[in-house]
Amino acid sequence: MSNSVAPTPGAAVSQDRQWDRLMQMAEIGAIPGEGVNRACLTPLDREARRLLIGWAQAIGLSVSVDPIGNLFLRHEGSDPEAAPVLTGSHMDTQPNGGRFDGIWGVIAGLEAVQAIRESGTPIQRPIEIVAWTNEEGGRFAPGCMGSMAWSGDKPANTWDAVTDPQGVTFKQALLEHQQAEADLPRRTLGPAAGGPKPAFYLEAHIEQGPRLEAEEMDIGVVTGIQGSRWFVVELRGETAHAGTAPLGLRKDAVQDMIRAITALNALMTDPQDVLRFTVGRIEVSPNTSNSVADLVRFTIDFRHPDKDVLLMNGDAVENTVRGAVKHCEVTVTERFHALPVEFDAVVQNAVEDAATAQGLKTLRLPSGAFHDAQFMVPICPTGMLFVPCRKGISHNPAEYSSPEQLAAGARVLAAALAELANR
Ligand code: GLV
Ligand code: MN
Ligand code: MN
Repeated sequence: MSNSVAPTPGAAVSQDRQWDRLMQMAEIGAIPGEGVNRACLTPLDREARRLLIGWAQAIGLSVSVDPIGNLFLRHEGSDPEAAPVLTGSHMDTQPNGGRFDGIWGVIAGLEAVQAIRESGTPIQRPIEIVAWTNEEGGRFAPGCMGSMAWSGDKPANTWDAVTDPQGVTFKQALLEHQQAEADLPRRTLGPAAGGPKPAFYLEAHIEQGPRLEAEEMDIGVVTGIQGSRWFVVELRGETAHAGTAPLGLRKDAVQDMIRAITALNALMTDPQDVLRFTVGRIEVSPNTSNSVADLVRFTIDFRHPDKDVLLMNGDAVENTVRGAVKHCEVTVTERFHALPVEFDAVVQNAVEDAATAQGLKTLRLPSGAFHDAQFMVPICPTGMLFVPCRKGISHNPAEYSSPEQLAAGARVLAAALAELANR
């Protein structure tokens, strides 16, 4: 064939180019075991964003950032006034994260748009690729700050006083970040600031669970996301000498933490194993072997697909802790409250049809992980597509999806975006 232009966006997706970009990104914040630690609003985050911006500018996309650091790369359609189709994900990682969670959705968005351009596919709506700020919540809790602020779920200054483990506030880190990116064109927040609503939002992500691989499926058509609630429990007791203070006189914060977590485990018992309950971070003070702890802070991550269970058990957390603790003063603070969402049928069908047309096997499934897409549901018709990942492992350096699996995902994304951009 003399014509070198690929006829469809799917066919113009380059497996090697996408994989090479992912591997270049994985070097920024690389940790042993092929993992990545790239916290939001850090110099590493900015280095990754500059790399992405370079690729986007090289193919003619326009770049802009909003006041909370969400980064947008825009491809024009034939009607610049039309509401855009939005795609993307996040570039930050867990402290002990992998090479694909989040970043693949951004790189796949770029690959899909590049394929649409190179195939000469006519589209009416603009397509914008977004990299949301702080999806993980690993440095500043909670996650999804960028999408919550953009969608108007919370005002953008909600988290100003939140600190990272070094005591840096989110406000300070964001200011530093904005200064380092002062050369980039600015845009306003989204509908929260009166900006236009996108026509559709479609996010690509690795599954982070075992089903697609186990059932030998290529593409997950995501039906919705379960609800999540995060809490911080603070227990204040009194420090004392470990060798001398009688047990009966102590106000031992560690012992009260054990009572509290035991009671919470009872509250969260679910014979069906649908409910998810995690205590993932514990801070103890003074954190020394021979002193009684006077302060414990621990986190709760609680998830359920049923709104009623999410509300009932979540609302019972504080009283459960208070009822179990014997000696300490108790403070319980809720930091994240995301209700379960269902995705739009049009977006789900666009993903399913694109996959089926390419001979790929699909499975409809809900997401156990939260995603920025959760906060787009009230804004516009929203959906997600998943690709399999090895053994479902995620939030772990061992996270892995193959170049072939990721290329299939990008091909489906490209075709679905082109379809939605002409609706
Ligand atoms: C996202 O990273 C989540 O914890 O679900
Ligand atoms: Mn993610
Ligand atoms: Mn994650």
